Amino acid sequence: MKKGKKLYEGKAKILYTATEKGTAIQHFKDDATAFNNQKKSVIEGKGILNNRISEHILSNLNQIGIETHLIKRINMREQLVKLVEIIPIEFVVRNIATGSLTKRLGIEDGTVLEKPLLEFCFKNDDLHDPLVAREHICAFGWSDDSELDSISKICFRINDFMQGMFKSVGIKLVDFKVEFGRLNQNGKKKIILADEISPDTCRLWDSSNDKKLDKDRFRKDLGNVIEAYQEVARRLNILHEGTNIKTVEFGKLRSVKNRK
Ligand code: TMP
Repeated sequence: MKKGKKLYEGKAKILYTATEKGTAIQHFKDDATAFNNQKKSVIEGKGILNNRISEHILSNLNQIGIETHLIKRINMREQLVKLVEIIPIEFVVRNIATGSLTKRLGIEDGTVLEKPLLEFCFKNDDLHDPLVAREHICAFGWSDDSELDSISKICFRINDFMQGMFKSVGIKLVDFKVEFGRLNQNGKKKIILADEISPDTCRLWDSSNDKKLDKDRFRKDLGNVIEAYQEVARRLNILHEGTNIKTVEFGKLRSVKNRK
């Protein structure tokens, strides 16, 4: 698979043109950022794990009829994906209150929500991806009611599927963020999931002790970031397929304080 010119470089991924029209190569970097780029680091091996975890989840979604941009994983750091027109909205689904929701509304951290909550954020780094209402999205033409209705349904289906998948390996799916794109296929417009799904974009807590197994370990300086990502891959039983990095047992690397 030949990589062409760089189309776009984001905080954790780079998109290159690919030989076949309508496709692109998505490269997963080891870079980690938080708080809109204010905190930065390189976490060795993170891109490899996210590539593999995201491939696993997206191919499962494809199999249950939720169409995604994933065509196939090409190597340890890259996937071949369908090129889409990205809808500039981040869709956040929450099952347990934490993160910005608790800060914004004073809800107690860890509150289990009666039903999943879907939030919309306008994808704009300069404005720090602000929370917006459906009315803003329609008023400014970022999407419309019909697209938002179908995307909302897809978000809840993804949530149902992922909650089950993670529950079966002892992990609580606390929340996640996904993005969607428009695809023109034989003159017909389709909406597909066009994003990674990984511990960078989900909050995952160990079911037995609520220990964080996601990017919050980096955001909150909890340590053992890569070990947590490896633990997620290990539980999903995909650690040794194409994730050729040194592995360490998460439990053995607990740091000085017994952090969650
Ligand atoms: P939040 O509580 O900070 O709003 O995050 C909600 C979810 O969205 C959480 O799983 C982390 C994910 N997320 C991203 O993937 N990218 C982002 O830029 C932000 C702010 C959150």
